[in-house]
Amino acid sequence: MRPIARIAGVGRGVPDHVMTNHDFAALGIETSHEWIVERSGIVERRIGGSDVSTTAMASAAARQALAAAGVDVGEVDTIILSTATPDRLLPSTAVDVQAELGASRAAAFDISAACSGWIYGLTVGEGLIATGAAESVLVIGAEKMSAIIDWTDRSTCVLFGDGAGAAVLRLAAPDEPNGAGILSTYMRSDGQLADLLYRPGGGARDPFSAEVLEGRSHFVKMAGREVFKHAVRSMSDACDRALERAGLTGVDIDLLIPHQANIRIIEATAKHAGIPMTKVFVNVDRYGNTSSASIPIALQEAIATGRIHPGSTALLCAFGAGFTWASMVVRF
Ligand code: ACO
Repeated sequence: MRPIARIAGVGRGVPDHVMTNHDFAALGIETSHEWIVERSGIVERRIGGSDVSTTAMASAAARQALAAAGVDVGEVDTIILSTATPDRLLPSTAVDVQAELGASRAAAFDISAACSGWIYGLTVGEGLIATGAAESVLVIGAEKMSAIIDWTDRSTCVLFGDGAGAAVLRLAAPDEPNGAGILSTYMRSDGQLADLLYRPGGGARDPFSAEVLEGRSHFVKMAGREVFKHAVRSMSDACDRALERAGLTGVDIDLLIPHQANIRIIEATAKHAGIPMTKVFVNVDRYGNTSSASIPIALQEAIATGRIHPGSTALLCAFGAGFTWASMVVRF
């Protein structure tokens, strides 16, 4: 079967401010550059100040993606924005991005699938294109993780960063050069494990209150070791399924772009998929875990640096809170 949709252009919007591992000392966090690098592979991350919103990063990424795709903002009919850090709880951040871009023809909505959200978004976008409901879909992953992490909890605050990435998804032509397009998709969730990585307070079940604030339960809580085990297992499963559905194996893949949470998870996933690290894109050292923005940021960098070019076949795979996991094989 020929592809229904193709990635026509990608973009990235990250804050300028770089926070290194050494900068945690100034915040009174008991950690070290060596500990963070050894356990996670992270050296630095981007952190947005009070003037940097999820909407602003998302809009910057979207503008770059539209320019790369040669698509006018007036042609965009759907905006799908994945975020765990919406600027406001109501309405969606996607509509704020729509207003910011002036995408007046579009329907806009957020999706919540944590770090897997951007691949979920591409999959939803592909489905909308397949039914004829959409033709030009902006799929954005945008996260201001610095706003929801507990800066007094050293087991989480060293791991995350801010940023956004975006892609324009369009109907693939029957005679698309290289057979470019989405070759396979896969999505899974397991809500039984939701409490291993979550924000317990501040939602409708336990609305924001003095107790929530005092108990710091509105910040991200994570059982790191448990999450690690599930991440390796699920990312491996995700790679297997997307390859199987595309009728390919690891040797057919030119570049694996895994969710950038931890270099050890990335290495274990690549080993399972039979893909050498020379064919794996890694930028977790420079951005930390930017949740659903991590894969589109990496994809933008992979294209900009020539590691993906026309004819390349990429395997994308992600894992996040929920748990959710997802994967996709894409030809460019
Ligand atoms: N600096 C120094 N020491 C620390 C730090 C820190 N920043 N954080 C924790 N420690 C200490 C702990 O207190 C513990 O000390 P103890 O042995 O005296 O109790 C020790 O280091 C080991 O802690 P562990 O949590 O067991 O360390 P581990 O080797 O598991 O590494 C890590 C921790 C990096 C969080 C790892 O478990 C991991 O990567 N988990 C997966 C996290 C992840 O990928 N999450 C995101 C996926 S989903 C998403 O993207 C939203």
